[in-house]
Amino acid sequence: MKAIIAYETKSGVTGESSNIIASVLREKHGFNVDVVNLKENPKPDLSSYQTVFIGSGIRMGRWYGRAKKLLRSDFEGKKVVIFVSACSAGDPKSHDEAVGKYLNEVLSKYPNVKPVATAAFGGRMKMFGKVQADTCDQDKVRAWADQVGAQLAR
Ligand SMILES: Cc1cc2nc3c(=O)[nH]c(=O)nc-3n(C[C@H](O)[C@H](O)[C@H](O)COP(=O)(O)O)c2cc1C
Repeated sequence: MKAIIAYETKSGVTGESSNIIASVLREKHGFNVDVVNLKENPKPDLSSYQTVFIGSGIRMGRWYGRAKKLLRSDFEGKKVVIFVSACSAGDPKSHDEAVGKYLNEVLSKYPNVKPVATAAFGGRMKMFGKVQADTCDQDKVRAWADQVGAQLAR
């Protein structure tokens, strides 16, 4: 069971979530997981992985460019899992709207991507060195990773 978690982050949250997901998959579900920062390696070779996680932060209503490009890959025969980090997604009042805009709407443009699981997690916004908003919930990330790990291992 080999998985890659390919992510792009600007404020760090998607990277933190990627590492949490990787730990849960390794420690609780026995996966062999590689975590790849798309800024360092924008075009990872996906050929040896049965499962591909793609994670992106959201700014100005948009996915980050490198993560979005990866959605164009050929996922034939692979399981795909998608997650995003957005401040609005971590607020119960705007979570469903965030799922609609940042997951459903975006993924509808990539018919090659048929994710077996998706999630929209919260985010953190800093300005002038000060945290202006923080809707992150690492326990949620951990619980979701555990559930996805069980689903993938079936
Ligand atoms: C310039 C800017 C624009 C943002 N735009 C949005 C937005 O449109 N919707 C939203 O929910 N969060 C928005 N955020 C909050 C980000 O989603 C949050 O910083 C998140 O942690 C980004 O993921 P990352 O930490 O992996 O880069 C914005 C943050 C910044 C700095």
